[in-house]
Amino acid sequence: MLTLTAVAEDPLVLTRPVSLEDGSDVVLRPLTHDDADDLAAFLTGLSAESRRLSTFDGYDLKAARELCDAIARHDKLRLVLDEVPTGRIVGLLELSLDLHPSDVARYRTAGIRLAATDCRFGPTLADDHQGKGVGTRVFPLVADVARCFGKKRIILWGGVLADNPRAVRYYEKQGFRTVGSFTGADGARSLDMILDLCPSPGR
Ligand SMILES: CC(C)(COP(=O)(O)OP(=O)(O)OC[C@H]1O[C@@H](n2cnc3c(N)ncnc32)[C@H](O)[C@@H]1OP(=O)(O)O)[C@@H](O)C(=O)NCCC(=O)NCCS
Repeated sequence: MLTLTAVAEDPLVLTRPVSLEDGSDVVLRPLTHDDADDLAAFLTGLSAESRRLSTFDGYDLKAARELCDAIARHDKLRLVLDEVPTGRIVGLLELSLDLHPSDVARYRTAGIRLAATDCRFGPTLADDHQGKGVGTRVFPLVADVARCFGKKRIILWGGVLADNPRAVRYYEKQGFRTVGSFTGADGARSLDMILDLCPSPGR
């Protein structure tokens, strides 16, 4: 089974080219310590609406450095999408390999007992890359990454805002099902969704 340390030491183990519907290419790869400036540019470029739908601790170089500093130090695996040939970061796909007790409690209410073989997922694409099928193209690779860490199910990291129909549709397309809803501290309603990962072909 893959470990976060192994990925940090050799990011190539999870580096994959992805061809997009419009004929262009992106590369999916783990975030590395050298990415702070490029990641800051990605975060800074997110619109107010994207920041509302996908929340980070900050959207500047400090926030980017913190994400880079966290590599292999916590339970998070952050993958980025590089635009080819510019190398611009156009997506941040986050997996949390550990669960938060609040997630465990909420899912228990829905009759689902979360386990160590579950992980959390949160995707964010640059505004100019949203709604073009990029997330759909990339998701099978993310699912494969989760399998490499021994995961059997994926839940949404922090849920998805009920008023984010594109993301809800996106998750449904990938096979996620809604299992409950909750109201956040800001009063916004979010949905909990879960996906059973089938073994990938050839495994
Ligand atoms: C959510 C996100 C990762 C999805 O990736 P994406 O590449 O934009 O999604 P795709 O284009 O592959 O698929 C989106 C689907 O939603 C549909 N859709 C788009 N707008 C929609 C709307 N307003 N209502 C319903 N469906 C909508 C699209 O038609 C497509 O479905 P289809 O292929 O059946 O036509 C991306 O849009 C994003 O980063 N959004 C901003 C941040 C965010 O919301 N993150 C999720 C936080 S939980």
